Amino acid sequence: MDSISIVGEKALHGRVGVAGAKNACLALMPAALLSEHPLTLTNVPRLSDIGTMTRLMRSLGAEVSSIQEGKVLAISAYRISHSRADYDIVRRMRASILVLGPLLARTGKAIVSLPGGCAIGARPVDLHLSALEALGAKLDLAEGYVTAVANGGLNGARIEFPFPSVGATETAIMAASLARGTTAIVNAAREPEIVDLANCLNKMGAKISGAGRNVIEVEGTDSLNGATHQVIADRIELGTYMIASAITGGEIELVGGRREFIGAFAEKLEQAGVEIADTADGIRVARNSMIGAVDIETAPYPGFPTDLQAQMMSMLTIADGKSVLEEKIFENRFMHVPELARLGASIELSGGTATVTGVQKLKGAPVMATDLRASASLILAALAAEGTSVVRRVYHLDRGYEQMVEKLSACGASIERFSE
Ligand code: UD1
Repeated sequence: MDSISIVGEKALHGRVGVAGAKNACLALMPAALLSEHPLTLTNVPRLSDIGTMTRLMRSLGAEVSSIQEGKVLAISAYRISHSRADYDIVRRMRASILVLGPLLARTGKAIVSLPGGCAIGARPVDLHLSALEALGAKLDLAEGYVTAVANGGLNGARIEFPFPSVGATETAIMAASLARGTTAIVNAAREPEIVDLANCLNKMGAKISGAGRNVIEVEGTDSLNGATHQVIADRIELGTYMIASAITGGEIELVGGRREFIGAFAEKLEQAGVEIADTADGIRVARNSMIGAVDIETAPYPGFPTDLQAQMMSMLTIADGKSVLEEKIFENRFMHVPELARLGASIELSGGTATVTGVQKLKGAPVMATDLRASASLILAALAAEGTSVVRRVYHLDRGYEQMVEKLSACGASIERFSE
């Protein structure tokens, strides 16, 4: 198992290229199942989650060709030979559930293993299922699998979500694209990845309007074409490197980074005293003063992203004062807290609220990564800590960060990956 060792307290300076968005790509790949014509995705991040989705797509009969070392994926679902997504793959990644909608819409049947719980809370899929039911699917849950059938095809309907779930909105958009008639998705998620999916589907001939707003309308079509689509930049990777610059008191230019998609996060960074400037190629992030304490509440987009809560917490562990972080999207998304405490952070947990009292210095220690974003928060904290830290179980990191060690060392970090 690989670990990462970091000698901290080095201000980072340099340029980092922002990769394509993992979460956009994990919805765009299943969208290829909606058409018998190929979908080519460019700006694909090279991550283990993309590898998992590739395996899942292949297991259904899709051909996935990796071009330019994986930066481009050509996916052809001309023939779908299996309608069953097995537990063995689905258990590795919750986003596997995103094949359910397109598989059902295209072939009239889908059997998908339920993803089950994971490290950051229960995360059920009931909203995905109720959306498909509203479109006329018959569902059966047995032995850990959901079987969805729509013999005469799906029919457009009004789907109203009690909560703007990202994944369920994606399921609904994809399934409704091949349904008969019009679908209205009310209280839809508004994340940039939803807009990216809708843009790609529209290139394939779908008729989707309102993506990025509360209500999305989808006029179903009989079939979809192929397309070529460039995946948007990863706003979570962007935010993580913005904190790498801020936490070390350095200056990093994020090439391809746009402030537009990280508004709420950027505002909080600025409140904490971090300087953010637009450049010709992206944005530049620098910190020249003490980090100020700020309060955070995670929320659906355009609010503060839950996927940056752990990283932000790392930065606030060395802020001047007390910060209160409220996690409103996932229960149990504070697995990084005891590990940050090992590095000397002072954090009090009470339900979904973490109160962080800034300390003058973090101190290097061995720590263990528990999930993707928690791993990133430990790397960030270690970059600021005095002495050496070793972060174990970094396979979590490989799910969502392309070449993190290389990117950080190019900015002057003393960081090394090794096998134990
Ligand atoms: C996506 C992102 C993930 C991010 C999250 C919230 C991908 C691949 N992953 O996850 O990185 O943290 O959005 O921004 O895009 N819920 C239900 N029932 C459902 C679906 C969700 O109760 O059927 C709940 C979840 O348990 C959670 C909340 O809704 O508490 C948010 O989940 P959702 O927006 O669906 O997140 P994901 O699509 O899983």
